Amino acid sequence: MRTEALALNDVTIDLRQQRILESIHLDVEPGSFTCLLGPSGCGKTTLLRAIAGFTPLSRGDIRLGSKSIAHLPPEKRQTAMVFQSYALWPHMSVGDNLGYPLKLRGISRAERQQRVAKILARLELSGFENRAVTQLSGGQRQRVALGRALIIDPPLLLLDEPLSNLDAAIRRNLRGELRRLQKSLGITTIMVTHDQEEALQMADQIVLMRAGEIVQVASPQHLYHHPADIAAARFLGVDNTVSCEEHDPPSARGATKFGFRTQDAVINMPLNAAALTRKGRVTDCLYTGNGYQVSLSTDGEELCATTASPIALGTFATLQVPESALISFGPDDRHMPPLDRHEDIA
Ligand SMILES: Nc1ncnc2c1ncn2[C@@H]1O[C@H](COP(=O)(O)OP(=O)(O)OP(=O)(O)O)[C@@H](O)[C@H]1O
Ligand SMILES: [Mg+2]
Repeated sequence: MRTEALALNDVTIDLRQQRILESIHLDVEPGSFTCLLGPSGCGKTTLLRAIAGFTPLSRGDIRLGSKSIAHLPPEKRQTAMVFQSYALWPHMSVGDNLGYPLKLRGISRAERQQRVAKILARLELSGFENRAVTQLSGGQRQRVALGRALIIDPPLLLLDEPLSNLDAAIRRNLRGELRRLQKSLGITTIMVTHDQEEALQMADQIVLMRAGEIVQVASPQHLYHHPADIAAARFLGVDNTVSCEEHDPPSARGATKFGFRTQDAVINMPLNAAALTRKGRVTDCLYTGNGYQVSLSTDGEELCATTASPIALGTFATLQVPESALISFGPDDRHMPPLDRHEDIA
């Protein structure tokens, strides 16, 4: 399997006189797994289509390996794209679906059969060759769609929300499978998703997008702990924000707000002195399966935390968040890195 680096430089797209993507710069390492993450309508599919050659650029360049592919038609780019609705041909068998891209390229029947058998084995679908695609489960169809993309041996694999049609259990399994397959093939892969958990689990690099622009490019670990701003943090599950107060744990110099995730906050369970503390009245208590999610109304702020046992509505309770789970933001809502432990906090 060949593998190539991808570089986007100033990629800008207007559709019907509307700016859809604004000056996208992105470097993708050969053999890496990149997720495009962002809310509906932010331009993820448009960017993927632009890379595949289905949407022309208004400005900018796309390089695969050492050469520009920006002005090549899709079939000359050698990229393979799996669309959100995976569009298998229902009148064809699994084997014919898989072999079709090879047939289009004039590859002999004997070689087609050989390559179809190889990809079926790779996807753990051996024995399914003559099955009608209408008689497959969602997860199996998804694997056939993936196989149809991989069979042409592309240097770049583009996946548009490939797992979103599947139910939760299959989806979780396929995440691991897809990731293992990608790593074993070493194929440079870009996958669109609007599911932060999926992106965190699968990606080497996450590209966070908003309204046609890139907000942040980072590893899952970095993005989780250091989202660029409050909106990015919300998208990554930071569902609480509080204004900083005098007695709060040390935050970044000049920070005005903290963000934290509900699952990191506890109720009536004293943490160490360094924790952020707020008191308030319980306004809601919902069972979550492994405990309760409690909403607290503090001075003008609605906050959420978790607890093992239910708490009566209307009672006063204390919410605490360990210092390590706090994310600091400045007056412009941008993330501020925490103070160095050795820095003077005066
Ligand atoms: N052919 C088109 N002509 C005009 N506008 C378009 C066209 N295709 C997409 N758009 C607009 O471009 C923006 C980005 O669309 P895109 O499909 O890339 O979003 P997305 O991030 O993939 O969203 P989703 O998560 O819902 O799939 C949207 O506002 C959409 O309405
Ligand atoms: Mg889309």
